[in-house]
Formats: sequence, structure tokens, C-alpha cells
Amino acid sequence: MHILITGGAGFIGSHVVRHLVTTYPQYTITNLDKLTYAGNLENLRDVEDSRNYRFVRRDITDSAAMLELFEKEGFDGVIHLAAESHVDRSIASPTEFVMTNVLGTVNLLNAARAVWKEDFSGKLFYHVSTDEVYGALGNKDGAFTETTSYDPHSPYSASKASSDHFVRAYHDTYGMPTVISNCSNNYGPYQFPEKLIPLFINNIRNNKPLPVYGKGENVRDWLWVVDHAQAIDVIYHNGEPGETYNIGGRNEWKNIDLIRLLCRIMDRKLWRVEGKSEKLISYVTDRAGHDFRYAIDSSKLQKELGWLPSLRFEEGLEKTVDWYLENQEWLDHVTSGEYQRYYEEMYGE
Ligand code: NAD
Ligand code: DAU
Repeated sequence: MHILITGGAGFIGSHVVRHLVTTYPQYTITNLDKLTYAGNLENLRDVEDSRNYRFVRRDITDSAAMLELFEKEGFDGVIHLAAESHVDRSIASPTEFVMTNVLGTVNLLNAARAVWKEDFSGKLFYHVSTDEVYGALGNKDGAFTETTSYDPHSPYSASKASSDHFVRAYHDTYGMPTVISNCSNNYGPYQFPEKLIPLFINNIRNNKPLPVYGKGENVRDWLWVVDHAQAIDVIYHNGEPGETYNIGGRNEWKNIDLIRLLCRIMDRKLWRVEGKSEKLISYVTDRAGHDFRYAIDSSKLQKELGWLPSLRFEEGLEKTVDWYLENQEWLDHVTSGEYQRYYEEMYGE
């Protein structure tokens, strides 16, 4: 079995690569990544020498390069994570999101279709998507299910919604075996410190302000990233082609409550007087089009494929803080740009 993972040098992708490389030594795992600002090969130091792992630096917007790679390698399956993933960046420069998230996905689908031709037996194109395609929930109960209508609001979620539609279209039109999963907010080690949790850990560590958008009342549903990687494994191996699976932990937190909890954990870990980190909170202008609440109903995945999240959030957040404090070199390399030299050191290009 030869699986192509795209975006494997990013946050979630690196956990998926690590999980598959170590769980399935009999598989070959090829990690394809452009190494944008979000791609960091230091995320994979512990598995980079594994015999069943290899890395190729490619851009999914390059259709000829995708076709050439598929023709050379064949691939039995694709787990597609490569994307522009940060909502704030999509508000500042939407076109890049169309190029990578929409066109890049279509290029991969075309390359897979050209090489797999009409014989799709034993093949699978797995597209990793987000709960943001469903839009926003109000200040009440209720959660997104697999049949919730798409209603994206940000350029990021619009581009992910579009890519989901293309994946479904290739299943319905050409019979390509595809699956899609839509997951809620992930947290854990190796997340780029532009996203809420690692940004705030880094700012607290450096006594810098914590920019809370609006009143901090928006709600997100948080999932330990390793649980997401495990769900992807379960869906890849046991999911039904043509189906969609929602992934989430039913773990909703108002941003400000999460931030206060994080401040308390950081005070304790850094031996600071309780309440010191909270003083760094600074309310700033809200994100444009800020979705109010996300919540995922993953009962289909739980009932049909037996997946369950493994960690309570308080425990996972504490583990996350411990990881960033024990790996301050990783954080310093990311914030200084040092991490971008690692590819040349490793691959000499
Ligand atoms: P990330 O930004 O950390 O990583 C994205 C990776 O894709 C990087 O390694 C980057 O170099 C690579 N990449 C970007 N453009 C590329 C291109 N043109 N060609 C090849 N590689 C390219 O993202 P993440 O948070 O790990 O998210 C991974 C996937 O999961 C995305 O598709 C995202 O939409 C989805 N997702 C993320 C979350 C979350 O909470 N982070 C939740 C649900 C779904
Ligand atoms: O729901 C899944 C999505 O979760 C993924 O598809 C995206 O790729 C991922 O980036 C994430 O999107 P969010 O926009 O929810 O994540 P972010 O960490 O950027 O923000 C989380 C919440 O915190 C959100 O309500 C905005 C708020 N926030 C964020 C930042 C970076 C702040 O208040 N201040 C900040 O500085």
C-alpha cells in the first residue's frame, strides 16, 4: 500500500504522517508538501529516517507536476490535507486560497483520475475538510451533521466548501472512490503560532498582549489533534466511499473561557502569581464575518466506525502547554524563521 499524504509538513498532516508511518510499517507513506510558511519539516524529525517514509517538495497548484508524480508512483490512496488554513489570512488575500484549496484539489483529483483511469478498485481519495463549510450556529443548542447545508462565510471556508463539492462531483460523475471528513478546531503540538492556542501560549511566555477578537464570546468545538489523526485512519480504512463523516469531540468552549483557563495553566507552569497572565488580555476589533459558534455532531462516525475522542479538554490543554514549554526551541525556530532552513539542511537543495 502506497499512500500519498499532502500537506504532511503542516500541523495536522504531520500527526497523520507520524501515525501512519509508525502504525503501518508495511505501507509506504509519501509526504508531499510545498513548504509554505505553514510547512515545517522539524515537525517530523522523529519519523524522517523511517524506512517507509519519504518526502517530496511539490506545489499542488502545479498540475503537470501532480500528473508526473502520480504517473511515476501510482499511489493506492491519497489523504489530502494541503491547504491554506488560516481564516485571517484568507480575509487579507483570498486568491491564494482559491488557487491552493480549490485548484490544487482539482489538480490532485485529475492526476488520480488520469492514472487510476476507470479501474478504481483498491483506490481511495480522502479529502480532509472543515466544519466551517457549514457556516455558523446561533447562541443555542444544536450541532452540524453531515446533512447540514453548506453556508460558508469566510474566503477560507468558501474555498474549502468548493473543494468538497469537487471531490463529491468526481465521485458522482466518474465513480472515483472518495471520502470527505469535516472536523472541528484542532489543538495540540506543532500548531503554527498564528492560531489561537499556540499564539496565546507564545504571547503569555513572552509577556505580550493576548488579542481577543470582539467580546471573546464566539464558541469553538476543540479536538485533540492526535484524535483527529486516529479518526482519519479509521475512516481511510473503514469508511464507505462516497460518504462524509463529521469529526469532533462535543467540546464547546467560549473563547474567553478557554483563554482564562489557558492563563491559569500558564501561571501555574511558569510559577507566576495567579492572575498575572489574564492581565495580558486585550480586546481588539472583531474578525470580519466572524462565525459565532461551531459544534460538530460526530455520532455517525462513532456509531458506524466506532471512533471516540480519547482526551478530556482540560487534560489535552495541559499536555499542549507542557509540549510548547518543553519545545521552546521549536517555537523559537518558527518565530525566527530558522525552521525554513531545515529543508536545505536535510535535502541539500
Ligand atoms: P497547516 O496550515 O498547518 O498546514 C498546511 C500544509 O499544507 C503546510 O504544510 C503547507 O506547506 C502545505 N501547503 C499549503 N499550500 C500548498 C501547496 N500549494 N502545495 C503543497 N502543499 C501546500 O494546516 P492544518 O491546520 O494542519 O490543516 C490541514 C488540513 O486540515 C487543511 O485542509 C484544513 O482545511 C483542514 N482542517 C484543519 C483544522 C484545524 O483546526 N487546523 C480543522 C479541520 C480541518
Ligand atoms: O473549525 C475548524 C477550523 O478551525 C479550521 O478549518 C481552520 O483551519 C482553523 O484555523 C480553525 O479556524 P478558527 O478561525 O476557528 O481558528 P483560530 O485559531 O484562528 O481562531 C479560534 C477562535 O479564536 C476564533 O473564534 C477567532 C479567535 N481568535 C483567534 C486569534 C488568532 C482571537 O480571538 N484572537 C486571535 O488572535
